[in-house]
Amino acid sequence: MSLVVDEAPAGGPAPEAPVEAFTVTLIIRRFDPDVDTEPRWQDFDVQMYATDRILDALHKIKWEQDGSLTFRRSCAHGICGSDAMRINGRNRLACKTLIKDLDISKPIYVEAIKGLPLEKDLIVDMEPFFASYREVQPFLQSATEPPKDKERIQSVADRARFDDTTKCILCAACTSSCPVFWTDGQYFGPAAIVNAHRFIFDSRDEAASTRLDILNDKEGVWRCRTTFNCTDACPRGIQVTQAIAEVKQAIMRGKP
Ligand code: SF4
Ligand code: FES
Repeated sequence: MSLVVDEAPAGGPAPEAPVEAFTVTLIIRRFDPDVDTEPRWQDFDVQMYATDRILDALHKIKWEQDGSLTFRRSCAHGICGSDAMRINGRNRLACKTLIKDLDISKPIYVEAIKGLPLEKDLIVDMEPFFASYREVQPFLQSATEPPKDKERIQSVADRARFDDTTKCILCAACTSSCPVFWTDGQYFGPAAIVNAHRFIFDSRDEAASTRLDILNDKEGVWRCRTTFNCTDACPRGIQVTQAIAEVKQAIMRGKP
């Protein structure tokens, strides 16, 4: 017996409308350190669908037009933080940016994030970013032993105090959109301060004063000029500028 299904049964769901394709131009800032002395812009026309993201367009270019195009990505779903890039002049995650949400009547400009050393095409050296992150000691520190066979108890209100800054995925979109960081790579940058905030305001942690001392440095929170670029850039919706302000207030109070 064979079963042939070639049309929707009477009363069944209506056939879905075909997804429309369109051609979009991406202008990508390329740089190959083995060949180029300066970055150069290169155009690519690609056929995409309304459901596609910039990451899909980059994959399509790499797989079908130019295998040398170089970029980072891992999860493709806004979790790993590896594909932050400047898209039409604004820091975004390529995997979270739908092409149909951009103005596709014009070319879409894609380039590496600013303020970190350019390595190749859309890849920058993230080591200075992670060096600042490590400097603020982003891990729980306590000299007090937890209750025997139990976790460290925390109230719902105490947990809520730092909930926003737990959402960071270390994509560097905030730090690399900060004009202070562009002009002075010594500044810790918003992401390091966000990750310090996450522990400074954690009631289980006992190293807040150490972190506040670190961030009271001349390269610390006082370099922030409250431009809100970081908050605008954050793909996780973290109130980055507010977190920085709360750390400044904690330094002035001498405690969280
Ligand atoms: S605070 Fe937001 S923009 Fe900055 S690194 Fe974390 S997730 Fe990325
Ligand atoms: S690829 Fe992981 S966040 Fe975009």
